[in-house]
Amino acid sequence: MYRRPFPRPWQYWSQRRINTLAGGLHAQRYLEIGIEHGRTAEKINVRERVGVDPAPRFDTNKLPPGFSFFAVESDTYFASLASEATFDLAFLDGLHTFGQTKNDLFNTLRHVPSGVILIDDTVPEDETAALPDRDEARALRRETGSKENAWMGDVWRLVVYIDQYLPQLDFRTIVGSGNVQTLVWRRTLGETISEPSGNEFEKLNYRETFASGIPDQFRPCAEVDAIQACLTTVQLHR
Ligand SMILES: C[S@@+](CC[C@H](N)C(=O)[O-])C[C@H]1O[C@@H](n2cnc3c(N)ncnc32)[C@H](O)[C@@H]1O
Repeated sequence: MYRRPFPRPWQYWSQRRINTLAGGLHAQRYLEIGIEHGRTAEKINVRERVGVDPAPRFDTNKLPPGFSFFAVESDTYFASLASEATFDLAFLDGLHTFGQTKNDLFNTLRHVPSGVILIDDTVPEDETAALPDRDEARALRRETGSKENAWMGDVWRLVVYIDQYLPQLDFRTIVGSGNVQTLVWRRTLGETISEPSGNEFEKLNYRETFASGIPDQFRPCAEVDAIQACLTTVQLHR
């Protein structure tokens, strides 16, 4: 027997959020970085889906119609992607570190000129889950006898980075209906966004940042409000 009733009413947050966005955008092309078993990707109602994962946990010889899969790291995938390739919607759920997810964000922005990007796990459950190194987080859990198992990495630093360095982007952090994720879109669709130099985000401290819960800087809000804010801008200008 499961400790909690199963399925939980708030579960499947990623597919629910992505499909709501896909409907609002009339999305034709979807990109997911980090596929694992394909549990989200298989449920996305978009005509063309592209998945990227160097360590897939499903039979890559059996793909549904309209689904393309690349068993490589995201940097390699983007390096080989034609410059004119575009997507309406992207889900960044690969390696959960600040550095890698920042790379994924800038690469994705080049190929999502007027769409929407959803970033997974932007508020860690606790300080250990927020460590950038997954093995270190697991070792610490073992040492302290913690019953928790979550690792979300330091993707949270990317939200602070976007807030401080990328005023061209608007975003909302979705709280209260499943995993915390951050929804990102351009204020001016089609605008080129380059990576600013000279920032040292590895020094940001988890305890200070989350001392009073999720800071306003993360623009936390309910799922329905985040999606509405996003679609209002993006639908209006597409
Ligand atoms: C949390 S799982 C993805 C879950 C999936 N998006 C879903 O919703 O069911 C993270 C995945 O990212 C993959 N990954 C790790 N490093 C990666 C990288 N550099 N590029 C792309 N994927 C990566 C891992 O192999 C793992 O399968």
